[in-house]
Amino acid sequence: MLLLWRLKMVIEKISKQLGQPTKSLLGWMVKRSLIKNNRILEENAVKLCAIQPTDTVLELGFGPGVGLEAAAQLLSSPEGKLIGVDYSEYMYKVSTQRMKHLIASGKVTLHQCSVDAMPLPDSSVDKVFHCNCYYFWPDLREGAAEIHRVMKPGGLMVTTLNLTRLSELASQKVIPGDNWRPENYIDALRATGFIDVGMEDRKDRGLVFQVIFATVCKWRLPGFSDRQKTP
Ligand SMILES: C[S@@+](CC[C@H](N)C(=O)[O-])C[C@H]1O[C@@H](n2cnc3c(N)ncnc32)[C@H](O)[C@@H]1O
Repeated sequence: MLLLWRLKMVIEKISKQLGQPTKSLLGWMVKRSLIKNNRILEENAVKLCAIQPTDTVLELGFGPGVGLEAAAQLLSSPEGKLIGVDYSEYMYKVSTQRMKHLIASGKVTLHQCSVDAMPLPDSSVDKVFHCNCYYFWPDLREGAAEIHRVMKPGGLMVTTLNLTRLSELASQKVIPGDNWRPENYIDALRATGFIDVGMEDRKDRGLVFQVIFATVCKWRLPGFSDRQKTP
């Protein structure tokens, strides 16, 4: 009984650290594991966004910054900008250190904030990508609506996930609740004004993973205008 209780506590702690890493031994271990294990998903999210040199690109839940680094290399025009948001103070500091030169030059801006309240103007972002992130958001529709708000019409949102691994982690209660199920995020995207929403299987370096694509539509959306914010 005591062993089971201890196991439950450990799982809860790992789950918390995955959802919002903190500066601690476990947070450091989670950071190391994200860098080692999520590179393929991060790099593919970047690749599948088809980033153009002049784009404004946003990564949600950037964690230790592997995807930020890959995306920044593609924004070769002075007009191209990269923005990242993550509400973990620890991840914000780690990625700020990783991207310090590009932050100093103004190419990259990082914000420590939640996905559902981003300090970004309406219709200002061309591409959004994220990886291993949406299932930690408190409310999928709030998150999707905020992404929709900051994106330009016709903009592309891409997220990559490893469904096999996710369902294992969910059955072990490491991933909380039911939001990890792609159909729940897909429903939230459709309900908040994204079109051409779909999921495909992909393979890279022996890893089979899934990618969700969604395109922003900003017309004929009942109730959309009440979410508009002024820059
Ligand atoms: C499992 S980690 C994944 C990090 C990175 N994308 C990767 O794949 O290695 C989830 C990240 O999303 C961030 N995150 C979770 N919920 C968030 C929210 N509502 N707003 C902003 N960041 C969030 C966490 O702080 C954490 O850095």
